[in-house]
Amino acid sequence: MTKTTTSATQTATTPWEPKIVGILCYWCTYAGADLAGSSRLKQAPNVRVVRVPCSGRIDPLFVLRAFARGADAVLVSGCHPGDCHYSKGNYYCRRRLSVFKRLLEFIGIPKERFRVHWISAAEGQQFAQVVNTMTEEVRRLGPFRWQEAAGAAAQQGIAGR
Ligand code: FES
Repeated sequence: MTKTTTSATQTATTPWEPKIVGILCYWCTYAGADLAGSSRLKQAPNVRVVRVPCSGRIDPLFVLRAFARGADAVLVSGCHPGDCHYSKGNYYCRRRLSVFKRLLEFIGIPKERFRVHWISAAEGQQFAQVVNTMTEEVRRLGPFRWQEAAGAAAQQGIAGR
């Protein structure tokens, strides 16, 4: 005989949905996101947008802070290389974040939870596609637990010595 228990809280809770923080350059990707919205493209409502003047303004600490405050994934996006309104901002961003990605894995944040895309103001369709794909991937991965990940990374670091 199987015992079944149901509680009022189980039925009242809503299913988990990924929280994705999108740090977007104002000139390109933010406008692309706006275009996706005004074109009424179908996209997941899981991305909370943080607008920055240029991807070159993105401090890697913004990404870490997003994870520490409950994000399940972070998307960084700016103008295509060569199209930055401040000339080289996205080159600085690209270089900085390629090093940062390795650090993320080292501290226990899987690389699948952090993505960088170059999306222009005219690419609303691409923005919606990136959002939908990323939301599906993060949904498969499940919730991100910062403290567990950091603890596991620390354990590995200690065991590796
Ligand atoms: Fe968009 Fe620099 S202005 S990346």
